[in-house]
Amino acid sequence: MTITSSPAWGALSAYCRSFAPTHLRELFAGDAQRAQSLSLSFDDIHYDYSKQRLTADTLDLLVALAREARLSESIERMFTGERINVSEGRSVLHVALRRFDGPFPRSDFDVMPEVLETRRRMAEFAERLRSGACLGYTGLPIRDVVNIGIGGSDLGPKMMCSALRAISHPTLAIHFVSNLDAAQLAPLLQTLDPRTTLFVVVSKTLSTQETAVNAKTARDWLLANLRDEAAIASHFVAVSANVERAALFGIAADAVFPIWDWVGGRYSLWSAVGLSLMIAIGPQAFDEMLRGAERMDEHFQSAPFERNLPVIMALIGIWNTNFLGATTNAVLPYNESLKYLPSYLQQLEMESNGKSVNMRGEAMDCATCPIVWGELGNNGQHAFFQLLHQGGRLVPCDFLAAVRSDYPLPEHQEALLSNCFAQSAALAFGRTASEVRASLEKAPASAQEQAELAAIVPQRVFAGNQPSSTLLLARLDPATLGSLIALYEHKVFVQGAIWGINSFDQWGVELGKAVAQRILPAFKDSQVDKSLDVSTQALLAFCRRHL
Ligand code: F6P
Repeated sequence: MTITSSPAWGALSAYCRSFAPTHLRELFAGDAQRAQSLSLSFDDIHYDYSKQRLTADTLDLLVALAREARLSESIERMFTGERINVSEGRSVLHVALRRFDGPFPRSDFDVMPEVLETRRRMAEFAERLRSGACLGYTGLPIRDVVNIGIGGSDLGPKMMCSALRAISHPTLAIHFVSNLDAAQLAPLLQTLDPRTTLFVVVSKTLSTQETAVNAKTARDWLLANLRDEAAIASHFVAVSANVERAALFGIAADAVFPIWDWVGGRYSLWSAVGLSLMIAIGPQAFDEMLRGAERMDEHFQSAPFERNLPVIMALIGIWNTNFLGATTNAVLPYNESLKYLPSYLQQLEMESNGKSVNMRGEAMDCATCPIVWGELGNNGQHAFFQLLHQGGRLVPCDFLAAVRSDYPLPEHQEALLSNCFAQSAALAFGRTASEVRASLEKAPASAQEQAELAAIVPQRVFAGNQPSSTLLLARLDPATLGSLIALYEHKVFVQGAIWGINSFDQWGVELGKAVAQRILPAFKDSQVDKSLDVSTQALLAFCRRHL
């Protein structure tokens, strides 16, 4: 049986038919306690979902759906190390990476000794760098660290380094290079001194083209400047599950920090993939981030579904996607330091749940992951919010903000927060035609004024009823951010469990990689073209004329 044929799904569908037209205005007018009853707090995170188009009854039905999908059993299976990533035959144990003791997940399958030993090695290495004791080949201390990786080997540490830049090491600079486009690496290399630069090559597989090409260029640059193969050992470390391949880059086994097949790339921030982050913020702050995530793990495992943040967040997403019919979800941080959060969540959500077959390989009969997108909220207001307000599309939004700023310039923070709150309120409640008329300074007197008013009123009406949640953090500190990211991870897990899909593989990224390998030789050899489609052939012909 698929989830759509369950009684709980049927009950939600029937309920939705009568409930869907209800406007958020009515819901707020009918319940003065709504902000209290439809919000949850966890440590320093306040999650307000009162502006979602639902009531306590809706949530009861959604919780029944989670029960019918046997969510508790799925959670148990992940935390006990069952091979829930069935298409790859792997356990899913990123939660082990934020634990501080073992055995875990079981005494007969305990990953904690290697997790803790790797964390200890990372901390030792990070401290040496931070104290200036880590010297380059010529004896000068390392000043710049370049993380070379892509996807999960880039987005997590980059997002967190930005989020925590206020507490980052004052003189060590951390850079991120992911793109094959030389326009990212080449200008960076121009600013770097090879004698004081460390490259951290991060790739779970070490077979990712982008990372291999960037790492090779970095290696060539270093050797061209330092003119000794022996210099590689002082300027390159790797993070990978593939120690043998690291040797092909000239990186010795003792300069490789391991990760394991039970960590998905997009869930690997907490592992040695976070090495650049640990170098930036220090091992203690890194541990605080892990503790924040660990607390969210405990909450996820133990809180009743009705008060369980990841479960509620996931169920709201399912309600919006599968019952109200939303196809996208906007992530709108009102905090410059969270500028990479939308990209991070895009990979986390869409690579995990962008699937159209279930765990058994059967076609899904309902929508799965919405298109996740977003931008800094305050900038977005002056760009695309017009469509959110008046474009007539249903776009659920996640507003995120930190109450306290790391940069206390007078006048900024309260103005920023008022904009954040104003947008979610305007989206929810809109403005009616009579409110537009009432806002006019004087009533139209002449027939011409009346005609002008009739023309302008519809332009100024806001339909409202655009659902959103607001996640308020007391401040951007490592623990709170750790909890926040673990919250989103578990939300994705819950949705995957309810849809019955495998959130931990990503077969959909393979085809493009294989096709790119077929196309590459055609830049030099036009004979290769013949096996390619005519559109690609024409694109290549244009390139050959202009390369
Ligand atoms: O191609 C997608 C992907 O495999 C992601 O899942 C992963 O995060 C990224 O590429 C990088 O992979 P790797 O760490 O093996 O280089």
